Amino acid sequence: MNIDSDTKLYCLIGHPISKSLSPLIHNFSFNENKINAKYLTFDVKENNLKMAISGLKALGVQGFNVTIPYKTEIIQYLDELSEEAKLIGSVNTVKNVNGKLIGYNTDGMGFIESLKENKIEIKEKIVLVIGAGGAGRAICMMLAKEGAEKIHIINRTIDKAKKLSKELNSIFDDVLITYGSLDNKKIDFKNIDIVVNCTSVGMYPNIDETPINPNHFTSKTTVYDIIYKPIKTKFLKFAEKRGCKILNGLDMLIYQGILSEEIWLDMNLNVEKVKKNVKSRSLQR
Ligand code: ATR
Repeated sequence: MNIDSDTKLYCLIGHPISKSLSPLIHNFSFNENKINAKYLTFDVKENNLKMAISGLKALGVQGFNVTIPYKTEIIQYLDELSEEAKLIGSVNTVKNVNGKLIGYNTDGMGFIESLKENKIEIKEKIVLVIGAGGAGRAICMMLAKEGAEKIHIINRTIDKAKKLSKELNSIFDDVLITYGSLDNKKIDFKNIDIVVNCTSVGMYPNIDETPINPNHFTSKTTVYDIIYKPIKTKFLKFAEKRGCKILNGLDMLIYQGILSEEIWLDMNLNVEKVKKNVKSRSLQR
């Protein structure tokens, strides 16, 4: 679509933002849905966040995504938060409603949608979550909200796993939440239904690393790595060899993007074409 005086601008702010797939997702979707809008990325350096938000607001930008390292810091500049953003404690999507900035979080729902699409039940399941950073937190909150029976959180810094499990326990009293270290010897791997890697271990360029030793998994376990660079991490390759069902982070990324766009445009979008396009284009990169 051509750019004219009615073209709306949407964007991503973060640092660094190079190699982000979000422009691919949104510009393809805008085009497919005949929406006169463009999506750009802006690398906002530290200390410039406040100024960047004022600028986006002054220019009447309709909506934007927020990524590392600003997902929590952005909250102080927003006028309102959705229930999910409050629960997760971070924002990845902002909608500008007549100058009022409303913060949402679609990361957690993106994760849940990708499980649903792959017909993986969460209700009453036992889940091992590796990582207690921002992504781990969002995913644990959604797993608990969706009715997981037990969530065991392991993390390099054990205090962070402890803090997150305490917080989850105080919100969800019907979910059993435990924590431990990455080399936790007490994990009963044969009882785990789903494992989710929410750490950056194994991400490009450190593609030879795995967050934990995957040799204990049995074929009944679904192994999900939220990393999408590379598409199949070493962790997933090992799990696949053990007969596990494996999922990478690309579907979660696409769903969170489409969910953001649905919030901005207030309409339902068809995710299938976007998925096909982004998957084929991202494999070429
Ligand atoms: P994100 O928002 O992507 O979750 P984050 O909040 O910085 O980013 O969290 C990164 C996660 O990866 C954390 O669980 C981190 O462990 P620590 O809490 O101990 O820092 C984990 N992580 C990063 N590098 C790691 C490494 N080399 N070994 C083990 N865990 C690592």
